[in-house]
Amino acid sequence: MRILFFGDVFGKPGRSLIMQELPRLRHEYKADFVILNAENLADGRGITEKVAKALWHSGVDAMTSGNHLWDREEALSYIAKEKRLVRPLNYPANSIGNISCRLEKGNLALDIICLTGQMFMPPCDSAFHGFDTFWNSRKEPEIPLLVDFHAESTAEKRAFAWHIDCRAAVMVGTHTHIQTADSEILPGGMAYITDVGMTGSHDSVIGVKKHIILDRFVNNIPQRFETSDKGLMINAVFIELDNSGKAREIRRIWTKEELQ
Ligand SMILES: [Fe+2]
Ligand SMILES: [Fe+2]
Repeated sequence: MRILFFGDVFGKPGRSLIMQELPRLRHEYKADFVILNAENLADGRGITEKVAKALWHSGVDAMTSGNHLWDREEALSYIAKEKRLVRPLNYPANSIGNISCRLEKGNLALDIICLTGQMFMPPCDSAFHGFDTFWNSRKEPEIPLLVDFHAESTAEKRAFAWHIDCRAAVMVGTHTHIQTADSEILPGGMAYITDVGMTGSHDSVIGVKKHIILDRFVNNIPQRFETSDKGLMINAVFIELDNSGKAREIRRIWTKEELQ
């Protein structure tokens, strides 16, 4: 099974890049399933039905999310009904959205979940306990499981990886928008990376126009965030699983358009 996973797709620049490049990448990697983290799709804040629709149309099969998923009130009913989109499962039980999604193609099947970290993040329940509860309730544990762990702390992500290795087939970290160079297959057979990074503008501070963020840091002047559209980059990983659901390969994808 061959999977492409894109790190947090940020605003219109990120969406346009996916729509433009996905047909080529899907063909190049012979991907069975394409997944992206959608928490920043709509101008960096959450998701809307309209922007999601364009991405489904371009060939995306499933979307994970994170702390920004519910930023847009107008999207809550869409989040509630969209079966291909998953919310963090360790948020309160009555949170809006589905906690898991299954992709199927021929004789291939992949389950997808996401969780958020507790360190330097909005409040949520323990991802460790949340994962265990989910795992113990699975009716078909033989189906490979892809986990997006959406968290700030590298230590929490690394610890979580050791916790779920031997159970999950893939753990992709997201949220920091910076790709880490530590992709590997852990001893239990799980493909792992601390953070896949961001698909959007490289000439920015994690997606936002850099002068706005600099003004906050240097002059303490708060301004409305605006999405940068310069130096577009793709941050993704390609993962291949063998027939037993163990990882055979994880490969980082990092491309950047040079500034004019
Ligand atoms: Fe994000
Ligand atoms: Fe996030």
